[in-house]
This record gives sequence, structure tokens and C-alpha cells, in this order.
Amino acid sequence: TGGVTTIDPGFKNTGSCESAITFLDGEKGILRYRGYSIEELAEKADFLEVAYLLIFGELPTAEQLDKFDKDIKEESHVDEDMKKILDGFPKSAHPMGVLSSLTSALIAFNPGSVDVDSEEAMYNAIVKIMAKFPVLAAWTMRKRKSLPLDYGDNSLSYVENLHKMMFAKPNKAYELNKIVIDALDKLLILHADHEQNCSTSTVRIVGSSHAGLFASLSAGISALWGPLHGGANQAVIEMLEAIKEDGGDTAKYIQKAKDKEDPFRLMGFGHRVYKNFDPRAKIIKKSAEEVLGDLGIEDPVLDIAKGLSQVALEDEYFVKRKLYPNVDFYSGIIYRALGIPTEMFTVMFALGRLPGWISQWREMRLRKEPIGRPRQIYTGENLRSFKDIADR
Ligand code: SDX
Repeated sequence: TGGVTTIDPGFKNTGSCESAITFLDGEKGILRYRGYSIEELAEKADFLEVAYLLIFGELPTAEQLDKFDKDIKEESHVDEDMKKILDGFPKSAHPMGVLSSLTSALIAFNPGSVDVDSEEAMYNAIVKIMAKFPVLAAWTMRKRKSLPLDYGDNSLSYVENLHKMMFAKPNKAYELNKIVIDALDKLLILHADHEQNCSTSTVRIVGSSHAGLFASLSAGISALWGPLHGGANQAVIEMLEAIKEDGGDTAKYIQKAKDKEDPFRLMGFGHRVYKNFDPRAKIIKKSAEEVLGDLGIEDPVLDIAKGLSQVALEDEYFVKRKLYPNVDFYSGIIYRALGIPTEMFTVMFALGRLPGWISQWREMRLRKEPIGRPRQIYTGENLRSFKDIADR
């Protein structure tokens, strides 16, 4: 068995690396990026600034941020032939599957960014993907709606440009709505990194074989897609809608979530690390109330979410298992208020998590971490001889 004596399913008690990027305290509900609290960053920073902080370790000076922004804008063109690949997908294709494929396909159009060793080559690959990923995400959404694809407007900020590429109406001037942009900026910041979660561990292990940044990110997008991970934000809204259709009968769904025979889980509840509350959920819940209020939107699903959360938080089953609302529980309510289609919610998560994945990949490569290759405990057959098919 190669000396392995214990197995740790889901790596619940296994550390995979040392990292200086993100600090979590699950008991106290603390989340910090490079030592800064997310509460401060969500209030005072913008997404590109936080991306720079995560990737390079310090809050940028005005010059550094301006150069990062300009270098990214230089790379915002995506090869027109990528549209032929996008056109190959049926409109019904899930955007996360499309994005994972397109991110991998980008390698063919940017051969120099496959595997990179020098800091300069890493920087070039990083600004390329920071620039092109939002374009691909917006194209994925517009393709489903048969809307024209464009490259946005480099006179806008990173988040404004993302929003314009997603929502600009053909033959109509694009209008910036500060409430919407600020809400989006805050959501992207709150999703930006979360230490060694499932998709980040995927990015690290794929990157550890020196498959390159884009290939590692493509794998991370696939891992995030799962409903137990980033896909939960879409599953939460689908669950809340089902409860609404069911006359708002939250008790029935709480019962289903507790019933071991029933595979149904309360989506958006529970977390591997946070055992008191997810600090992001607290901020997002408050932001949901503010954004809906500012936009004058009445969404019954918010009331259902609050009611469901209240009942669960008083229910012994959830209290005993320390299950609380996580980042995905309220985020979809804001995305919906911003007009983002449900099937794009996990893409929004990926857009936020992009700088986190990049920072973790860069740290792993700069530290020259070894290729990830765990062992096992063998529980199969002992040695046995081959049998001809006639004798089987
Ligand atoms: C994210 O890791 C990260 O940091 C992820 C993330 C990030 O930023 O990268 O924070 C983003 O993925 C948030 C989580 C989104 N997923 C969901 O909301 C899906 C629903 N939640 C669960 O499936 C679950 O809580 C997990 C996946 C989040 C955590 O799973 P664990 O740590 O493996 O816990 P578990 O499945 O072993 O559950 C422990 C117990 C079990 O009951 P018992 O066997 O002890 O009786 O709690 C129960 C579970 O059945 N349980 C739930 C539940 N979550 C756990 N029961 C009902 N509903 C739930 N949501």
C-alpha cells in the first residue's frame, strides 16, 4: 500500500499546501484576502484592485492599477475564429460547459501562454485571460439569446465593460446604472478567492503537471459547475422557485432536506469550513435587500429565502450539524434582480473566482510545487492468473 495507513475522503482533514493568499477562520466566520478583511474590500475597493491584490500580493498604487488595467485592455480581443467554436454548441448547452471548452480552446489561439516559467510570461498569460474570459462569458450568454457578440468598450471599467458586453441592446445606447455596477462589483469581490476549495484545488493539481494556466482554469470551471460547489447558486434559485410554486411551503422542504431517504438538500446551506456563518452570506443578504430596494424590485423569492433560513436556523437538525446559509444562498437573488439568467449564475461565480484561481496557480508555480500525485490503500483482488474466455 506504499506506506499509506489512513484515507481522508474529501480531504476534510488534509492540508494540500502552504499559501499566503487567503485566510479563513471557519469558527469565527473570518475571510481575508492577503490580510485585508472582505468587509473592508467589499466596501472600499473595486474588483480589479482586489484581483491585483490577490494575484500580486499588495494593493496596487494608482500607477500599478492603471498599467494592469491598460495591459488587460490591450488583450481584450478574442480571435474571431473562436466564434466558430461557440457556434458549434446548441443554444441549450449549459454556459459552464461552453466556458470550460472555450477557455481550453483559447490555448490554440494563444500558444505562448500554454506553459510558462518566467514571471514575465506568467504576467502576459494572466492579463490575456483576465481580458478574454469576460468576453467569452458575455458571448456565451448572448449566443443563448441570439444577440450580437461584441468586444465591449475599453473606455469603461472592467466591471462596466463586462456588464455592457452582457446587456448592451442592439441599436440602443448602453446606459450605465451605478447601482447595478456597484452590486456586481461587490459580488465579484466576495467570490474572488476562498483558499483550497474544490475548484481551486483542481486548478492547482492540473497546474502542477505544468499543463499551463488556461488548461488549469478550464478544469477549475468544470469543478465549480457542480451543484455541491458553485453550481449551488443556480440550484438555490431553482429550489426557491419550486417552493414558491408549491405555495411557499418551506416546512415541507425543510422536512425533505432532513429526510435521509430523500436526496434533496437545502441548497445554499452548509459549508465545509464555516461552522457558524459564512461572512459573505451576511454581506450578500444585506446587499440583496439594498439592491432590490434601490431598483424598486419586489421579489417574493427573497422573502421565501429569509423564511426558509429562519426556520432552518431554529431547527435542531441544522443546528446540530452547524448548517448555515453560505455564499450561494442569497447571491442568485441579486443576479436575478440584475437581469442575469439563472443558467448564468455559476458563470458569474467563475468571473469572480478567476483572479483567485490565477493567484493560487501563480503561487503554486512560483513555489515550484511538485506534481500532485496522492497514494491509496488497495482493497482489490490478490494476484490471480489469466483465464481464457472459454474457461470463464
Ligand atoms: C461553495 O469550499 C468552499 O470554500 C466552497 C465555496 C467557495 O467559495 O469556493 O464556499 C463555495 O461551494 C459553497 C457551498 C455550496 N454548496 C451547497 O450549498 C450545496 C448544499 N450544501 C452541501 O451539499 C454541503 O453542505 C457542502 C457540500 C457545502 C459541504 O459538505 P460536507 O462538508 O462534505 O458536509 P457533509 O455533506 O458531510 O454533511 C454533513 C452532514 C450530513 O448529515 P449526516 O450524514 O451527518 O447526518 O450535514 C448534512 C449531511 O447530510 N448536510 C445537509 C446539507 N449540507 C450538509 N443536509 C441538508 N441540506 C444541506 N445543504
